[in-house]
Amino acid sequence: MAKLVYVLNGPNLNMLGKREPGIYGGATLADIEAECRAAGADLGLEIEFRQSNHEGVLVDWIQEAGERGVGIVLNPGAYGHTSIALHDAIRSVSPMPAIEVHLSNIHAREPFRHKTMTAPVVVGVICGLGPIGYRLALEALAARQ
Ligand code: DQA
Repeated sequence: MAKLVYVLNGPNLNMLGKREPGIYGGATLADIEAECRAAGADLGLEIEFRQSNHEGVLVDWIQEAGERGVGIVLNPGAYGHTSIALHDAIRSVSPMPAIEVHLSNIHAREPFRHKTMTAPVVVGVICGLGPIGYRLALEALAARQ
């Protein structure tokens, strides 16, 4: 059976395609999901792809991934910058690896985006590469299996 990876997306990522395309590009979340499924097929990973605007729901899904999955790709959106709950949730499923992805280069943007609460508890952070960052994160997780 293929190993299950959760690809979790936080707030406002359901708006991709319409939302600030100069920053986030024209791909929709459905496009990114399709990319992740294609990458999963290439890498022998089963993909559970979800998005929520609600912090606690993301915490629930990280915990679920800890029970059922072998890894997490997380674009925490703005909660990455603020959420101790997401930090704790990732720690709670350790040593299961999580990789943080941001479409935009958060370090080239406003100072409040330069730091994330999640970065210290993930195995790596990919930012600024657009949707391909999700594929790269899946490759990195596959390489750890
Ligand atoms: C984002 C970057 C965050 O700063 C922002 O709040 C988002 C999207 C990204 O993918 O570039 O919602 O996570």
